[in-house]
Amino acid sequence: MAASAKGRLVPVLAVVAALAAALLYRAPFSKSLGGEGCSLLPHDHFWIASERVVTLGRVGPAAVEVKGGLINAIAVGDYRSFVLRRPLLDYGDAVIMPGLIDVHAHLDEPGREEWEGFSTGTRAAAAGGITTLVDMPLNNFPSTVSEETLKLKLEAARDKLYVDVGFWGGLVPENAFNPSALESLLNAGVLGLKSFMCPSGINDFPMTNSTHIEEGLVTLAKYQRPLLVHAERIPDVEDEDGLDGELDPRSYATYLKSRPPAWEESAIRDLQRAMKDTEAGGRSEGAHIHIVHLSDAKTSLELMKDAKRTGASVTVETCPHYLAFSADEVPDGDTRFKCAPPIRDGMNRENLWKALLDGHIDMLSSDHSPSAPDLKLMEEGNFLKAWGGISSLQFVLPVTWSYGKKYGITLNQLAAWWSENPAKLAGQKNKGAILPGYHADIVVWKPEAQFELDDSHSVYHKHRNISAYLGKELSGKVLSTFVRGNLVFAEDKHAKAACGVQILAK
Ligand SMILES: *[C@@H]1O[C@H](CO)[C@@H](O)[C@H](O)[C@H]1NC(C)=O
Ligand SMILES: *[C@@H]1O[C@H](CO)[C@@H](O)[C@H](O)[C@H]1NC(C)=O
Ligand SMILES: [Zn+2]
Repeated sequence: MAASAKGRLVPVLAVVAALAAALLYRAPFSKSLGGEGCSLLPHDHFWIASERVVTLGRVGPAAVEVKGGLINAIAVGDYRSFVLRRPLLDYGDAVIMPGLIDVHAHLDEPGREEWEGFSTGTRAAAAGGITTLVDMPLNNFPSTVSEETLKLKLEAARDKLYVDVGFWGGLVPENAFNPSALESLLNAGVLGLKSFMCPSGINDFPMTNSTHIEEGLVTLAKYQRPLLVHAERIPDVEDEDGLDGELDPRSYATYLKSRPPAWEESAIRDLQRAMKDTEAGGRSEGAHIHIVHLSDAKTSLELMKDAKRTGASVTVETCPHYLAFSADEVPDGDTRFKCAPPIRDGMNRENLWKALLDGHIDMLSSDHSPSAPDLKLMEEGNFLKAWGGISSLQFVLPVTWSYGKKYGITLNQLAAWWSENPAKLAGQKNKGAILPGYHADIVVWKPEAQFELDDSHSVYHKHRNISAYLGKELSGKVLSTFVRGNLVFAEDKHAKAACGVQILAK
Protein backbone atom coordinates (compact mmCIF):
# COMPACT_ATOMS: atom_id res chain seq x y z
CA MET A 1 0.00 0.00 0.00
CA ALA A 2 2.69 2.44 0.93
CA ALA A 3 4.35 1.72 -2.40
CA SER A 4 1.24 2.11 -4.53
CA ALA A 5 0.37 5.39 -2.85
CA LYS A 6 3.54 7.22 -3.78
CA GLY A 7 2.75 8.01 -7.39
CA ARG A 8 -0.37 10.00 -6.64
CA LEU A 9 1.14 12.86 -4.74
CA VAL A 10 2.23 14.71 -7.83
CA PRO A 11 -0.41 15.90 -10.28
CA VAL A 12 1.78 14.97 -13.21
CA LEU A 13 -1.07 15.24 -15.66
CA ALA A 14 -1.81 18.81 -14.76
CA VAL A 15 -1.02 21.33 -17.41
CA VAL A 16 0.29 24.49 -15.86
CA ALA A 17 -0.58 27.72 -17.58
CA ALA A 18 -0.22 31.34 -16.64
CA LEU A 19 -3.46 33.21 -16.16
CA ALA A 20 -3.13 36.85 -15.17
CA ALA A 21 -0.86 36.82 -12.13
CA ALA A 22 -2.01 33.32 -11.33
CA LEU A 23 -1.34 29.70 -12.10
CA LEU A 24 -3.96 27.55 -13.70
CA TYR A 25 -3.76 23.82 -13.18
CA ARG A 26 -5.97 21.96 -15.60
CA ALA A 27 -7.11 18.35 -15.65
CA PRO A 28 -6.75 16.40 -18.88
CA PHE A 29 -10.17 14.78 -18.88
CA SER A 30 -13.57 14.82 -17.30
CA LYS A 31 -16.54 12.55 -17.06
CA SER A 32 -20.08 13.35 -16.14
CA LEU A 33 -22.40 11.70 -13.68
CA GLY A 34 -25.37 12.44 -11.51
CA GLY A 35 -28.96 13.14 -12.38
CA GLU A 36 -32.15 14.89 -11.40
CA GLY A 37 -32.21 15.98 -7.77
CA CYS A 38 -28.65 14.84 -6.98
CA SER A 39 -27.46 18.40 -6.46
CA LEU A 40 -28.79 21.60 -4.95
CA LEU A 41 -27.08 23.38 -7.88
CA PRO A 42 -28.47 23.25 -11.39
CA HIS A 43 -24.98 23.14 -12.92
CA ASP A 44 -22.56 20.47 -14.02
CA HIS A 45 -19.82 22.97 -14.81
CA PHE A 46 -19.00 25.80 -12.40
CA TRP A 47 -16.28 27.45 -10.34
CA ILE A 48 -16.04 27.72 -6.57
CA ALA A 49 -13.65 30.15 -4.98
CA SER A 50 -12.55 31.62 -1.67
CA GLU A 51 -9.68 33.35 0.08
CA ARG A 52 -8.70 30.10 1.81
CA VAL A 53 -8.50 27.12 -0.51
CA VAL A 54 -6.52 24.16 0.82
CA THR A 55 -4.71 22.84 -2.24
CA LEU A 56 -1.21 22.11 -3.49
CA GLY A 57 0.13 22.04 0.08
CA ARG A 58 -0.86 25.61 0.83
CA VAL A 59 -3.82 27.74 1.88
CA GLY A 60 -4.71 30.85 -0.07
CA PRO A 61 -6.99 32.51 -2.58
CA ALA A 62 -7.93 30.27 -5.48
CA ALA A 63 -10.77 29.24 -7.72
CA VAL A 64 -11.57 25.60 -8.42
CA GLU A 65 -13.24 24.59 -11.67
CA VAL A 66 -15.66 21.69 -11.29
CA LYS A 67 -16.78 19.92 -14.43
CA GLY A 68 -18.64 16.66 -14.79
CA GLY A 69 -18.00 15.66 -11.19
CA LEU A 70 -14.26 16.22 -11.32
CA ILE A 71 -11.93 19.02 -10.46
CA ASN A 72 -10.96 20.31 -13.86
CA ALA A 73 -8.65 23.17 -13.02
CA ILE A 74 -7.36 25.27 -10.15
CA ALA A 75 -6.56 28.93 -10.58
CA VAL A 76 -4.35 30.08 -7.74
CA GLY A 77 -4.21 33.74 -6.80
CA ASP A 78 -6.55 36.70 -6.66
CA TYR A 79 -9.48 35.00 -8.32
CA ARG A 80 -11.63 38.14 -8.33
CA SER A 81 -9.34 39.60 -10.95
CA PHE A 82 -9.59 36.55 -13.21
CA VAL A 83 -11.92 36.28 -16.12
CA LEU A 84 -13.61 33.05 -15.09
CA ARG A 85 -16.48 31.40 -16.79
CA ARG A 86 -19.68 31.71 -14.83
CA PRO A 87 -21.25 30.46 -12.68
CA LEU A 88 -18.85 31.27 -9.87
CA LEU A 89 -19.69 30.48 -6.24
CA ASP A 90 -17.65 32.96 -4.23
CA TYR A 91 -17.38 31.78 -0.62
CA GLY A 92 -15.42 34.82 0.54
CA ASP A 93 -13.18 33.99 3.49
CA ALA A 94 -14.67 30.54 4.14
CA VAL A 95 -12.33 27.56 3.84
CA ILE A 96 -12.55 25.28 0.79
CA MET A 97 -10.99 21.96 1.69
CA PRO A 98 -11.03 18.35 0.46
CA GLY A 99 -14.09 16.57 1.83
CA LEU A 100 -13.41 14.38 4.85
CA ILE A 101 -12.95 10.63 4.38
CA ASP A 102 -14.05 8.67 7.40
CA VAL A 103 -12.55 5.19 7.23
CA HIS A 104 -14.30 3.96 10.37
CA ALA A 105 -18.06 4.31 10.72
CA HIS A 106 -20.74 1.83 11.80
CA LEU A 107 -23.99 2.45 9.93
CA ASP A 108 -25.53 -0.80 11.22
CA GLU A 109 -27.68 -1.64 8.19
CA PRO A 110 -29.04 -4.15 7.36
CA GLY A 111 -30.25 -5.72 10.56
CA ARG A 112 -29.84 -2.91 13.09
CA GLU A 113 -31.12 0.10 11.22
CA GLU A 114 -32.87 1.15 14.41
CA TRP A 115 -29.33 2.08 15.56
CA GLU A 116 -28.43 4.26 12.54
CA GLY A 117 -28.89 3.19 8.90
CA PHE A 118 -27.48 4.33 5.55
CA SER A 119 -29.90 7.18 4.98
CA THR A 120 -29.57 8.97 8.32
CA GLY A 121 -25.87 8.12 8.59
CA THR A 122 -24.92 9.54 5.22
CA ARG A 123 -27.15 12.61 5.67
CA ALA A 124 -25.26 13.29 8.90
CA ALA A 125 -21.96 12.71 7.10
CA ALA A 126 -22.89 15.21 4.35
CA ALA A 127 -23.92 17.77 6.96
CA GLY A 128 -20.55 17.29 8.65
CA GLY A 129 -18.43 17.76 5.53
CA ILE A 130 -17.67 14.05 5.12
CA THR A 131 -17.80 13.13 1.44
CA THR A 132 -16.73 9.49 1.68
CA LEU A 133 -17.05 7.00 4.47
CA VAL A 134 -16.12 3.36 4.78
CA ASP A 135 -18.66 1.28 6.62
CA MET A 136 -17.54 -1.33 9.15
CA PRO A 137 -18.52 -4.99 8.68
CA LEU A 138 -20.16 -5.27 12.06
CA ASN A 139 -23.01 -4.07 14.14
CA ASN A 140 -25.10 -4.71 11.07
CA PHE A 141 -26.71 -8.17 10.99
CA PRO A 142 -25.58 -10.44 9.53
CA SER A 143 -21.98 -9.26 9.78
CA THR A 144 -20.25 -8.64 6.45
CA VAL A 145 -17.95 -11.65 6.39
CA SER A 146 -18.72 -13.23 3.02
CA GLU A 147 -19.65 -12.37 -0.55
CA GLU A 148 -23.31 -13.16 0.27
CA THR A 149 -23.46 -10.87 3.29
CA LEU A 150 -21.76 -8.07 1.33
CA LYS A 151 -24.51 -8.41 -1.28
CA LEU A 152 -27.11 -7.92 1.45
CA LYS A 153 -25.33 -4.75 2.48
CA LEU A 154 -25.13 -3.38 -1.06
CA GLU A 155 -28.80 -4.13 -1.51
CA ALA A 156 -29.68 -2.35 1.75
CA ALA A 157 -27.62 0.70 0.80
CA ARG A 158 -29.17 1.19 -2.62
CA ASP A 159 -30.59 4.68 -3.24
CA LYS A 160 -29.89 5.72 0.37
CA LEU A 161 -26.41 7.20 0.14
CA TYR A 162 -25.91 10.97 0.28
CA VAL A 163 -22.11 10.55 0.20
CA ASP A 164 -19.85 7.91 -1.34
CA VAL A 165 -19.57 4.75 0.75
CA GLY A 166 -17.06 1.90 0.66
CA PHE A 167 -17.19 -1.27 2.74
CA TRP A 168 -14.75 -3.22 4.88
CA GLY A 169 -15.28 -6.98 5.14
CA GLY A 170 -14.72 -9.04 8.29
CA LEU A 171 -11.80 -11.37 8.98
CA VAL A 172 -13.15 -13.94 11.44
CA PRO A 173 -12.01 -17.45 12.46
CA GLU A 174 -14.54 -18.97 10.07
CA ASN A 175 -12.94 -17.46 6.94
CA ALA A 176 -9.34 -16.84 8.08
CA PHE A 177 -8.07 -20.28 7.04
CA ASN A 178 -10.19 -20.31 3.89
CA PRO A 179 -8.44 -18.30 1.16
CA SER A 180 -11.13 -18.95 -1.43
CA ALA A 181 -13.83 -17.56 0.89
CA LEU A 182 -11.68 -14.49 1.52
CA GLU A 183 -10.99 -14.11 -2.17
CA SER A 184 -14.66 -14.13 -3.05
CA LEU A 185 -15.27 -11.43 -0.43
CA LEU A 186 -12.37 -9.37 -1.79
CA ASN A 187 -13.44 -9.98 -5.40
CA ALA A 188 -16.91 -8.74 -4.47
CA GLY A 189 -15.33 -5.36 -3.73
CA VAL A 190 -14.57 -4.82 -0.04
CA LEU A 191 -11.73 -2.31 0.30
CA GLY A 192 -9.98 -4.46 2.91
CA LEU A 193 -10.77 -6.48 6.03
CA LYS A 194 -11.28 -5.76 9.72
CA SER A 195 -10.72 -8.03 12.68
CA PHE A 196 -10.92 -7.97 16.47
CA MET A 197 -8.36 -9.32 18.93
CA CYS A 198 -10.87 -9.25 21.79
CA PRO A 199 -14.61 -10.02 21.87
CA SER A 200 -16.40 -7.55 19.58
CA GLY A 201 -19.65 -7.57 21.53
CA ILE A 202 -21.43 -8.91 18.44
CA ASN A 203 -22.06 -12.67 18.44
CA ASP A 204 -21.64 -13.27 14.72
CA PHE A 205 -18.34 -11.37 14.64
CA PRO A 206 -15.98 -13.49 16.77
CA MET A 207 -12.44 -12.48 17.61
CA THR A 208 -9.34 -13.61 15.75
CA ASN A 209 -5.97 -14.61 17.18
CA SER A 210 -2.60 -13.83 15.64
CA THR A 211 -2.60 -17.02 13.55
CA HIS A 212 -5.88 -16.05 11.89
CA ILE A 213 -4.45 -12.62 11.18
CA GLU A 214 -1.18 -13.93 9.75
CA GLU A 215 -3.09 -16.27 7.45
CA GLY A 216 -5.60 -13.63 6.35
CA LEU A 217 -2.78 -11.26 5.47
CA VAL A 218 -1.37 -13.69 2.92
CA THR A 219 -4.58 -13.36 0.90
CA LEU A 220 -4.77 -9.60 1.45
CA ALA A 221 -1.22 -9.29 0.11
CA LYS A 222 -2.34 -10.60 -3.27
CA TYR A 223 -4.95 -7.85 -3.44
CA GLN A 224 -2.76 -5.14 -1.88
CA ARG A 225 -5.53 -4.30 0.54
CA PRO A 226 -5.27 -3.52 4.25
CA LEU A 227 -6.31 -5.32 7.42
CA LEU A 228 -7.78 -3.03 10.06
CA VAL A 229 -7.29 -4.37 13.56
CA HIS A 230 -9.11 -3.60 16.77
CA ALA A 231 -6.00 -4.01 18.90
CA GLU A 232 -7.10 -4.85 22.40
CA ARG A 233 -6.32 -8.27 23.80
CA ILE A 234 -6.81 -9.68 27.27
CA PRO A 235 -3.23 -10.35 28.41
CA ASP A 236 -2.37 -13.95 29.26
CA VAL A 237 -1.58 -12.88 32.82
CA GLU A 238 -4.05 -10.24 33.99
CA ASP A 239 -2.80 -7.59 36.34
CA GLU A 240 -3.60 -8.48 39.98
CA ASP A 241 -5.10 -5.11 40.82
CA GLY A 242 -7.75 -5.57 38.15
CA LEU A 243 -11.43 -5.20 38.95
CA ASP A 244 -12.78 -6.31 42.26
CA GLY A 245 -16.46 -6.60 43.06
CA GLU A 246 -16.53 -3.47 45.23
CA LEU A 247 -16.23 -0.91 42.47
CA ASP A 248 -19.08 1.37 41.51
CA PRO A 249 -20.29 0.61 37.95
CA ARG A 250 -21.55 4.20 37.63
CA SER A 251 -18.06 5.53 38.06
CA TYR A 252 -16.07 6.00 34.85
CA ALA A 253 -12.90 5.04 36.76
CA THR A 254 -14.32 1.56 37.17
CA TYR A 255 -14.74 1.13 33.44
CA LEU A 256 -11.33 2.64 32.74
CA LYS A 257 -9.71 0.12 35.06
CA SER A 258 -11.45 -2.75 33.32
CA ARG A 259 -9.62 -2.04 30.02
CA PRO A 260 -6.08 -0.90 30.87
CA PRO A 261 -3.44 0.16 28.30
CA ALA A 262 -1.94 -3.30 28.81
CA TRP A 263 -4.75 -4.66 26.60
CA GLU A 264 -3.71 -2.51 23.66
CA GLU A 265 -0.07 -3.27 24.30
CA SER A 266 -0.67 -7.00 24.46
CA ALA A 267 -2.55 -6.97 21.14
CA ILE A 268 0.16 -5.02 19.36
CA ARG A 269 2.89 -7.29 20.74
CA ASP A 270 0.87 -10.24 19.51
CA LEU A 271 0.75 -8.63 16.06
CA GLN A 272 4.49 -8.19 15.79
CA ARG A 273 5.06 -11.24 13.63
CA ALA A 274 2.15 -10.28 11.36
CA MET A 275 3.59 -6.77 11.01
CA LYS A 276 7.02 -8.22 10.21
CA ASP A 277 5.36 -10.32 7.47
CA THR A 278 4.35 -7.09 5.67
CA GLU A 279 7.96 -5.93 5.28
CA ALA A 280 9.67 -6.11 1.89
CA GLY A 281 10.46 -9.76 1.23
CA GLY A 282 8.06 -10.85 3.99
CA ARG A 283 5.39 -13.50 3.66
CA SER A 284 2.63 -10.90 3.27
CA GLU A 285 4.47 -8.18 1.40
CA GLY A 286 1.82 -6.00 -0.24
CA ALA A 287 -0.60 -6.32 2.65
CA HIS A 288 -0.90 -3.58 5.23
CA ILE A 289 -1.91 -3.46 8.90
CA HIS A 290 -3.86 -0.49 10.17
CA ILE A 291 -4.49 -0.14 13.90
CA VAL A 292 -7.89 1.43 14.47
CA HIS A 293 -8.67 3.88 17.27
CA LEU A 294 -5.41 3.80 19.22
CA SER A 295 -5.98 5.17 22.70
CA ASP A 296 -2.78 4.23 24.59
CA ALA A 297 -0.19 6.88 23.73
CA LYS A 298 2.56 5.07 25.64
CA THR A 299 3.97 1.61 25.01
CA SER A 300 1.44 0.71 22.31
CA LEU A 301 2.44 3.78 20.36
CA GLU A 302 6.16 3.05 20.86
CA LEU A 303 5.65 -0.46 19.49
CA MET A 304 3.99 0.98 16.39
CA LYS A 305 6.85 3.43 15.89
CA ASP A 306 9.29 0.50 16.10
CA ALA A 307 7.33 -1.45 13.51
CA LYS A 308 7.33 1.53 11.12
CA ARG A 309 11.04 2.06 11.67
CA THR A 310 11.89 -1.50 10.69
CA GLY A 311 9.88 -1.21 7.46
CA ALA A 312 6.56 -2.84 8.26
CA SER A 313 3.61 -1.56 6.24
CA VAL A 314 1.56 -0.19 9.11
CA THR A 315 -0.50 2.87 9.97
CA VAL A 316 -2.45 4.02 13.02
CA GLU A 317 -5.57 6.09 13.52
CA THR A 318 -7.04 7.71 16.59
CA CYS A 319 -10.45 9.32 17.04
CA PRO A 320 -11.59 12.80 18.05
CA HIS A 321 -13.04 11.55 21.35
CA TYR A 322 -9.60 10.49 22.56
CA LEU A 323 -8.30 13.94 21.64
CA ALA A 324 -11.23 15.91 23.04
CA PHE A 325 -11.96 14.25 26.37
CA SER A 326 -10.07 12.94 29.36
CA ALA A 327 -11.18 10.35 31.89
CA ASP A 328 -11.63 12.81 34.77
CA GLU A 329 -14.07 14.85 32.67
CA VAL A 330 -16.50 11.98 32.17
CA PRO A 331 -19.45 12.46 34.53
CA ASP A 332 -20.56 9.55 36.69
CA GLY A 333 -23.18 7.47 34.93
CA ASP A 334 -22.75 9.26 31.59
CA THR A 335 -22.48 6.21 29.38
CA ARG A 336 -22.50 8.32 26.19
CA PHE A 337 -18.72 8.43 26.77
CA LYS A 338 -18.28 4.67 26.90
CA CYS A 339 -16.12 3.32 24.09
CA ALA A 340 -13.40 0.70 23.66
CA PRO A 341 -10.55 1.19 24.13
CA PRO A 342 -11.55 3.74 26.75
CA ILE A 343 -10.84 7.47 26.93
CA ARG A 344 -7.79 7.70 29.22
CA ASP A 345 -6.25 10.43 31.41
CA GLY A 346 -5.32 13.99 30.47
CA MET A 347 -1.63 13.22 30.09
CA ASN A 348 -2.47 10.45 27.62
CA ARG A 349 -4.59 12.92 25.64
CA GLU A 350 -1.64 15.35 25.47
CA ASN A 351 0.58 12.55 24.22
CA LEU A 352 -1.93 11.54 21.55
CA TRP A 353 -1.96 15.12 20.23
CA LYS A 354 1.82 15.12 20.21
CA ALA A 355 1.97 11.83 18.30
CA LEU A 356 -0.55 13.14 15.78
CA LEU A 357 1.36 16.37 15.26
CA ASP A 358 4.64 14.45 14.95
CA GLY A 359 3.17 12.15 12.30
CA HIS A 360 3.32 8.97 14.39
CA ILE A 361 -0.46 8.76 14.24
CA ASP A 362 -1.35 8.86 10.57
CA MET A 363 -5.00 9.77 10.46
CA LEU A 364 -8.27 10.32 12.25
CA SER A 365 -11.57 8.51 12.01
CA SER A 366 -14.90 8.93 13.76
CA ASP A 367 -15.54 5.38 14.95
CA HIS A 368 -19.14 6.59 14.90
CA SER A 369 -20.81 3.76 16.74
CA PRO A 370 -24.34 4.58 17.79
CA SER A 371 -26.97 2.25 19.20
CA ALA A 372 -30.62 2.41 20.12
CA PRO A 373 -30.80 4.90 23.04
CA ASP A 374 -32.14 2.37 25.55
CA LEU A 375 -28.96 0.27 25.20
CA LYS A 376 -26.94 3.17 26.62
CA LEU A 377 -28.78 2.58 29.95
CA MET A 378 -28.69 6.29 30.64
CA GLU A 379 -30.97 6.07 33.68
CA GLU A 380 -29.05 3.28 35.32
CA GLY A 381 -25.70 4.75 34.19
CA ASN A 382 -23.93 1.42 34.44
CA PHE A 383 -20.67 1.72 32.51
CA LEU A 384 -20.04 -2.01 32.65
CA LYS A 385 -23.40 -3.01 31.13
CA ALA A 386 -24.14 -0.14 28.71
CA TRP A 387 -23.47 -0.53 24.99
CA GLY A 388 -20.11 0.98 24.10
CA GLY A 389 -19.67 3.39 21.21
CA ILE A 390 -19.55 7.14 20.73
CA SER A 391 -21.90 8.84 18.33
CA SER A 392 -20.05 11.61 16.51
CA LEU A 393 -20.19 11.34 12.72
CA GLN A 394 -21.60 14.79 11.98
CA PHE A 395 -19.33 16.59 14.46
CA VAL A 396 -15.80 15.38 13.74
CA LEU A 397 -14.68 18.42 11.76
CA PRO A 398 -15.63 21.09 14.31
CA VAL A 399 -14.50 18.80 17.15
CA THR A 400 -11.04 18.20 15.68
CA TRP A 401 -10.66 21.90 14.92
CA SER A 402 -12.03 23.17 18.24
CA TYR A 403 -9.91 20.93 20.43
CA GLY A 404 -6.88 21.15 18.15
CA LYS A 405 -6.69 24.93 18.00
CA LYS A 406 -4.69 25.22 21.20
CA TYR A 407 -2.08 22.88 19.70
CA GLY A 408 -1.83 25.17 16.69
CA ILE A 409 -3.08 22.65 14.13
CA THR A 410 -3.25 23.88 10.55
CA LEU A 411 -5.77 23.42 7.79
CA ASN A 412 -3.20 21.43 5.84
CA GLN A 413 -2.80 19.06 8.78
CA LEU A 414 -6.56 18.65 8.99
CA ALA A 415 -6.62 17.77 5.30
CA ALA A 416 -3.82 15.22 5.75
CA TRP A 417 -5.44 13.54 8.76
CA TRP A 418 -8.99 13.58 7.44
CA SER A 419 -8.62 13.31 3.66
CA GLU A 420 -5.27 12.54 2.14
CA ASN A 421 -4.09 9.73 4.42
CA PRO A 422 -7.49 8.06 4.77
CA ALA A 423 -7.82 8.06 0.96
CA LYS A 424 -4.55 6.11 0.73
CA LEU A 425 -5.69 3.59 3.32
CA ALA A 426 -8.94 3.04 1.44
CA GLY A 427 -7.11 2.75 -1.89
CA GLN A 428 -8.88 5.79 -3.40
CA LYS A 429 -6.41 7.30 -5.83
CA ASN A 430 -8.68 10.08 -7.05
CA LYS A 431 -9.99 11.24 -3.69
CA GLY A 432 -8.50 13.04 -0.70
CA ALA A 433 -7.16 16.24 -2.26
CA ILE A 434 -8.20 19.21 -4.35
CA LEU A 435 -6.18 18.51 -7.46
CA PRO A 436 -7.01 18.40 -11.17
CA GLY A 437 -8.50 15.06 -12.18
CA TYR A 438 -9.64 14.25 -8.64
CA HIS A 439 -13.27 13.84 -7.66
CA ALA A 440 -14.82 17.17 -6.75
CA ASP A 441 -15.35 16.06 -3.13
CA ILE A 442 -15.22 19.31 -1.21
CA VAL A 443 -16.27 20.84 2.10
CA VAL A 444 -16.75 24.56 2.51
CA TRP A 445 -16.72 25.68 6.13
CA LYS A 446 -16.18 28.58 8.48
CA PRO A 447 -13.62 27.68 11.16
CA GLU A 448 -14.39 30.80 13.19
CA ALA A 449 -18.15 30.24 13.50
CA GLN A 450 -18.85 29.27 17.11
CA PHE A 451 -21.87 27.46 18.43
CA GLU A 452 -23.05 25.39 21.32
CA LEU A 453 -24.06 21.96 20.18
CA ASP A 454 -27.51 21.43 21.60
CA ASP A 455 -30.74 19.70 20.70
CA SER A 456 -31.92 22.67 18.68
CA HIS A 457 -29.18 22.06 16.14
CA SER A 458 -29.91 20.21 12.95
CA VAL A 459 -28.47 16.87 13.94
CA TYR A 460 -29.07 14.22 11.32
CA HIS A 461 -27.94 11.11 13.21
CA LYS A 462 -30.88 8.79 13.81
CA HIS A 463 -30.55 9.44 17.55
CA ARG A 464 -29.86 13.05 18.38
CA ASN A 465 -29.40 12.76 22.10
CA ILE A 466 -26.82 9.99 22.60
CA SER A 467 -23.76 11.93 21.50
CA ALA A 468 -21.06 12.73 24.05
CA TYR A 469 -20.57 16.09 22.33
CA LEU A 470 -23.99 17.55 23.15
CA GLY A 471 -23.64 20.70 25.20
CA LYS A 472 -20.07 21.39 24.03
CA GLU A 473 -18.92 24.76 22.70
CA LEU A 474 -17.57 24.15 19.23
CA SER A 475 -16.11 26.20 16.45
CA GLY A 476 -16.42 25.39 12.76
CA LYS A 477 -19.62 25.43 10.75
CA VAL A 478 -20.06 23.49 7.52
CA LEU A 479 -21.63 25.66 4.81
CA SER A 480 -21.60 23.38 1.78
CA THR A 481 -20.60 19.84 0.90
CA PHE A 482 -19.94 18.68 -2.66
CA VAL A 483 -19.71 15.00 -3.58
CA ARG A 484 -18.35 14.45 -7.10
CA GLY A 485 -19.50 17.93 -8.00
CA ASN A 486 -23.00 17.49 -6.62
CA LEU A 487 -23.90 20.04 -3.96
CA VAL A 488 -25.37 17.49 -1.54
CA PHE A 489 -25.68 19.78 1.49
CA ALA A 490 -25.97 23.55 1.87
CA GLU A 491 -27.63 25.91 4.34
CA ASP A 492 -29.00 23.06 6.43
CA LYS A 493 -30.65 21.40 3.43
CA HIS A 494 -29.84 18.16 1.65
CA ALA A 495 -30.18 17.43 -2.04
CA LYS A 496 -33.46 15.75 -2.94
CA ALA A 497 -31.97 12.52 -4.25
CA ALA A 498 -29.36 10.32 -2.62
CA CYS A 499 -26.75 9.98 -5.37
CA GLY A 500 -23.72 8.75 -3.42
CA VAL A 501 -21.85 5.89 -5.03
CA GLN A 502 -21.07 2.47 -3.58
CA ILE A 503 -17.29 2.26 -3.85
CA LEU A 504 -16.20 -1.25 -4.72
CA ALA A 505 -12.56 -2.28 -5.12
CA LYS A 506 -11.61 -3.88 -8.42
C1 LIG B 1 -5.77 -19.53 16.80
O1 LIG B 1 -6.93 -20.35 16.76
C2 LIG B 1 -6.80 -21.48 15.89
C3 LIG B 1 -8.13 -22.19 15.88
O2 LIG B 1 -9.13 -21.44 15.23
C4 LIG B 1 -5.67 -22.37 16.33
O3 LIG B 1 -5.48 -23.38 15.37
C5 LIG B 1 -4.39 -21.57 16.47
O4 LIG B 1 -3.38 -22.37 17.04
C6 LIG B 1 -4.62 -20.35 17.35
N1 LIG B 1 -3.41 -19.54 17.40
C7 LIG B 1 -2.92 -19.04 18.51
C8 LIG B 1 -1.68 -18.21 18.41
O5 LIG B 1 -3.44 -19.22 19.59
C1 LIG C 1 -33.28 10.10 23.59
O1 LIG C 1 -34.16 10.02 22.50
C2 LIG C 1 -34.81 8.76 22.37
C3 LIG C 1 -35.57 8.78 21.06
O2 LIG C 1 -34.64 8.80 19.98
C4 LIG C 1 -35.66 8.51 23.61
O3 LIG C 1 -36.26 7.23 23.51
C5 LIG C 1 -34.78 8.57 24.86
O4 LIG C 1 -35.57 8.48 26.01
C6 LIG C 1 -34.00 9.89 24.91
N1 LIG C 1 -33.05 9.81 26.01
C7 LIG C 1 -32.68 10.87 26.73
C8 LIG C 1 -31.65 10.62 27.78
O5 LIG C 1 -33.13 11.98 26.56
ZN1 LIG D 1 -15.53 0.71 15.47
